[in-house]
Amino acid sequence: MAIELILNGEPTQLDAPGSARLLDVLREHGHTVGVKEGCGEGECGACTVLIDDVPACSCLMFAGQANGHRVDTIESLSQGEPHPLMDAIVDAAGVQCGFCTPGIVLSAKSLLDNNPKPTREEVQVALSGNLCRCTGYHRIIDAVQSVAKNSQAKTRRP
Ligand code: FES
Ligand code: FES
Repeated sequence: MAIELILNGEPTQLDAPGSARLLDVLREHGHTVGVKEGCGEGECGACTVLIDDVPACSCLMFAGQANGHRVDTIESLSQGEPHPLMDAIVDAAGVQCGFCTPGIVLSAKSLLDNNPKPTREEVQVALSGNLCRCTGYHRIIDAVQSVAKNSQAKTRRP
């Protein structure tokens, strides 16, 4: 099947079985290996991508379901300057093995795009589908809140 999508901002055609997992097709045909496989069962969030700006587990989706949609992987945030969330999570020591980080960054980006001033609880809820075995979460949440605060400060500047 020819799957036509906007992958990381580029119109893209992926020739792959529509019934294959989107996770596998992105990694093997789309060469977006920032999408990780953890549990393969929708529990860990390592495979998170944004479908039309909404976080989704690519291990639970058929590739054919992406046809006609925008799909963003972590690579979309690495073109040019790193996204502020990436710098903030690194600066806060919120990365250890890094396996969860792409999914966490995408979930956090979706949150901040929709809710630029989230409370700590709202950040926790937004990241509740992304498991991290290393960091204890506090530093990641601190980093997301620091990005929100910095972007508010910039918007207030004349
Ligand atoms: S690999 Fe998809 S949720 Fe864990
Ligand atoms: S940094 Fe290792 S799983 Fe999150």
